[in-house]
Amino acid sequence: MRGKLVAGLLAAALASGAFMAAPGSDGEAIYLSRCMSCHQVDGMGIAGVFPPLVETDWVRGDRGRLIRLVLDGMMGEVKVNGVVYSGAMPPWKAFLSDDEVAELLTYIREAWGNDASAVTAQQVALVRKATADRATPWTAEELMERANQGIPGSLSTLFSTPDSTLRQ
Ligand code: HEC
Repeated sequence: MRGKLVAGLLAAALASGAFMAAPGSDGEAIYLSRCMSCHQVDGMGIAGVFPPLVETDWVRGDRGRLIRLVLDGMMGEVKVNGVVYSGAMPPWKAFLSDDEVAELLTYIREAWGNDASAVTAQQVALVRKATADRATPWTAEELMERANQGIPGSLSTLFSTPDSTLRQ
């Protein structure tokens, strides 16, 4: 009797979507559905295979670079906190809206002790527009160039120096 009740409640909860990460609902839900399979729930990745998102300069550094990386992905060799990775990070621009990318990146920049500022949907929209012709994943080397950093058209980008302070 009791088992049936529990099963019934469970079925009702499932039907109402209570256990499904609603895409677009918030940054954490988007992280869990899109990124967690590789970078893991604690953001620590898998050593030598999937890099961590905790205390990395890619996550905490220049926003424009991080937005580019997530919209079009990344391939080739990259050193993250002392470990070399040579994998493929898939592109997300076809799957995530500006709002979703902003919520997701704000989440990972604040989670796990990362202490970086928020990303707005407007910043994502500006980068998306400026990189609309991009059809291949970025290399780490390209993302170290000033032209591939910052928010297009923003004053702070005009006056800032390139973010090449990656921890190697
Ligand atoms: C299929 C596995 C996979 C998925 C899913 C994935 N990534 Fe990655 N990610 C990688 C790999 C592999 C690299 C390193 C790429 C390289 O070697 O050039 C990487 C690199 C990164 C980096 C730069 C390096 C670092 O660790 O700081 C960031 C930031 C990042 N991913 C964020 C994300 C976010 C946000 C999502 C979800 C939208 C995501 N990734 C989904 C595999 C994945």
